Amino acid sequence: MAGAVLGTSDWYRHFGTVDAPGSSACYADWSLHIADDPALIARIDRWPHNKRQPLLLLAAARYLGAEVSPYGKFRNFLDEHWADVSRTVLSRATQTNEVGRCATLLPSFAAISAAEQKPLALIEVGASAGLALFPDRYSYEYDDGTTVTRLSAEPRPAGQLAAPEPPVLRCAVSGAIPVPAKLPDVVWRAGIDLNPLDVANNDDVAWLEALIWPEQDFRRKRLRQAIGIAREDPPLLVAGDLNEQLMSLAGQAPADAALVVFHSAVMGYLSAGGRSRFRSTVQDLAASRGCHWLSNEGETVIVQEDGSTVVPEMAAGRLRGNFLLLHNGRPVAITGPHGQSLDWL
Ligand SMILES: C[S@@+](CC[C@H](N)C(=O)[O-])C[C@H]1O[C@@H](n2cnc3c(N)ncnc32)[C@H](O)[C@@H]1O
Repeated sequence: MAGAVLGTSDWYRHFGTVDAPGSSACYADWSLHIADDPALIARIDRWPHNKRQPLLLLAAARYLGAEVSPYGKFRNFLDEHWADVSRTVLSRATQTNEVGRCATLLPSFAAISAAEQKPLALIEVGASAGLALFPDRYSYEYDDGTTVTRLSAEPRPAGQLAAPEPPVLRCAVSGAIPVPAKLPDVVWRAGIDLNPLDVANNDDVAWLEALIWPEQDFRRKRLRQAIGIAREDPPLLVAGDLNEQLMSLAGQAPADAALVVFHSAVMGYLSAGGRSRFRSTVQDLAASRGCHWLSNEGETVIVQEDGSTVVPEMAAGRLRGNFLLLHNGRPVAITGPHGQSLDWL
């Protein structure tokens, strides 16, 4: 029992010293205080293991109205709202839908479309609300001065609402990145998620906003803009396990489009067996129908051809805190986890 308590405390200490600093001073402070608050850790330990993760508790508190504050005030908030915090933690999951990741995927999407000389059909597995399924509807600013913007939307008849403003996704770049001159055409898009979030559902939207760290207003702004775009043309999202649903969903993709199966920040939720099964499924799909596979994941869960979880030719330190982007199993870039950077290999 003592071991379980220690484990949760360590999890919050790690979040407060490694994950949060640089992104959220408030979450760093709260997490370190929680790590040293045995009474609260004991309450958190009554939840199932996968519900004890720091971001889930912090997002639940924010969803219920906790404001940026010194720890004492936050602790009082938790005491006063514990039943609701518990209910939220037990009914929700960390489903951050980070639209910024499109900036790190765009060059690969465009290169695939150009190489195949076909428009794209996209399937995102672990899609959350499906906001990364609209890379052709956003604008991009890479810090080498390259911009890729959507041609202005069709003018709308008088009386209709103006087209929603696209988010501008900013990304620091290095290496010889094949930034495209224009956005690729996407003719079909669909996602799979255990629990798809609905951009038309205000509770789901409030949860997506709560998952963004308090100080990161720029992420909240682009989330809201992306939701505005997705609400106009909601993506097809299938509820279920990615390993169960991929083949049948791929069967719906138009045959004359280049199919791309992609995922970011998803493989960590699968067991090693689930990841291995997914690799085989994608390979079967590539052999039977033809598809490209883009995997954008953290270093420890990268699915390798031989079943190993590291990229042999790369020093682990280069990847720490970042994601690796693989195209058909081959490393092509190191990416910032929220799409903030793209280091082409
Ligand atoms: C951290 S979110 C990332 C969402 C999205 N890929 C993005 O980059 O914004 C992970 C998502 O994967 C989904 N997920 C986890 N395991 C899954 C599975 N076995 N099958 C389908 N979806 C899964 C979760 O429900 C969650 O929405």
